[in-house]
Amino acid sequence: MENYQIKLVKFKEALAKIAMSNLIDHGDRILAFRLLTEALVESLNVERASIWLYDEGKTYIELCDLFEVTSKTHSAGMKLNQVDFPIYFSFLQQNRVLVVEDAHADKITSEFSTSYLTPLNIHSMLDVPIRLGGEVVGVICNEQVGRMRQWTIEDDFFVCAIADIVGRVLEAEKRLHAQRQLQTQQMQSVQAAKLASLGEMAGGVAHEINNPLQVILSASEFLKDLMMDQTLDRESLKESVHMIANTAQRIDKIVKGLKYFAREGSIEQRQLHSLSNLFEDTLSFCRERFASRGVRLDVPEIREPIFLKINAIAVSQVLLNLLNNAFDAVVGKQGAWVRLDLDVFEGMISISVTDSGEGIDPALRDKIMNPFFTTKPIGIGTGLGLSVSRGLVESHGGRLYLEPTSKNTRFVVELPRTYEDVMALIS
Ligand SMILES: Nc1ncnc2c1ncn2[C@@H]1O[C@H](COP(=O)(O)OP(=O)(O)OP(=O)(O)O)[C@@H](O)[C@H]1O
Ligand SMILES: [Mg+2]
Repeated sequence: MENYQIKLVKFKEALAKIAMSNLIDHGDRILAFRLLTEALVESLNVERASIWLYDEGKTYIELCDLFEVTSKTHSAGMKLNQVDFPIYFSFLQQNRVLVVEDAHADKITSEFSTSYLTPLNIHSMLDVPIRLGGEVVGVICNEQVGRMRQWTIEDDFFVCAIADIVGRVLEAEKRLHAQRQLQTQQMQSVQAAKLASLGEMAGGVAHEINNPLQVILSASEFLKDLMMDQTLDRESLKESVHMIANTAQRIDKIVKGLKYFAREGSIEQRQLHSLSNLFEDTLSFCRERFASRGVRLDVPEIREPIFLKINAIAVSQVLLNLLNNAFDAVVGKQGAWVRLDLDVFEGMISISVTDSGEGIDPALRDKIMNPFFTTKPIGIGTGLGLSVSRGLVESHGGRLYLEPTSKNTRFVVELPRTYEDVMALIS
């Protein structure tokens, strides 16, 4: 093989190695540049190869990485001011490559002679500007030490190929930076939305808790007066104590609801649970009440075992909220019933709660999921049930919605089913 052919094979191998490395598009310029300077010295057989980039104002170039063969070291940080080397910098702007055999004598590189070439014993240079979007952003320098060297056209092409790869490194870095910025912005807007709904919640909570607190305060004032009274009226005493206990329970319910909100998004308590156990546990909280008040409860028979990775307490709380709402909507009506349905799809499970009621007034549909929206009498509903439930379902990556086309009132909970859930059946 001719010399130039051997060289070409070497260059081809070096470029293939670079192409296969994941460092180029990884967004870490230091590691990528080190790979490239090492490839340059090895393939070109030079002592020094370096990558320099302009500062933002284009007043100087800064050394990002220099690899020196003898010492096998990488270094960085040196700066060269444009005003000190005007001919060299203006040449870079206008040309694709600078090939110099005798750097001391050449009219473009001689300005480096005393300050740079002599102390480093450099004789020949092959420099290629790095372009990004057509604009020069830096330069690759290859320096022959100790003797002069004649560069070949293959050397020139190889360095140009590496300069293009440096451009790719910088593009990847820019792209990753933009992606990270976008992610931060998205996180910030989610945070802002959470804070906004928290603010909305806080206003509602203050209002909701304030009313029962006033009741407790006036009942305890009344108790104080009652105790001053010599003839203690036991009936009045009982009534006030009851009122305090009931009202305190109402506050307790609100606070519990809020705790669920705060837990929204936590995934660490999720475990594989059997749906039939989940249904059983949930229904044990309400079966008696449904039966004693004449509301028929239809529950699906689950024949095959189905597992889901969920926070069982949270999902059970959601179902209970829906069952209680259904119960409240139909209790006391002729032929009242509530039905639980289960549909299993490949990537999702849908659980719905339908009641014998005939849907929800279209004017209310948009409001029912809002925190504190309730049509129930004061002291009965907090209006947190659906909004808390929706938060819990969404924190599982699912959806909770009112089925718009159903003849009867029907709420649907969709939960994603993962590969892990399905595999639990087999193992
Ligand atoms: N199955 C249903 N049928 C008719 N209306 C419903 C049904 N489920 C919910 N709603 C309406 O949506 C409102 C909000 O429900 P949500 O569960 O959020 O609060 P709540 O039931 O009023 O109070 P809480 O759940 O705190 O006891 C209810 O007051 C009711 O007007
Ligand atoms: Mg409710």
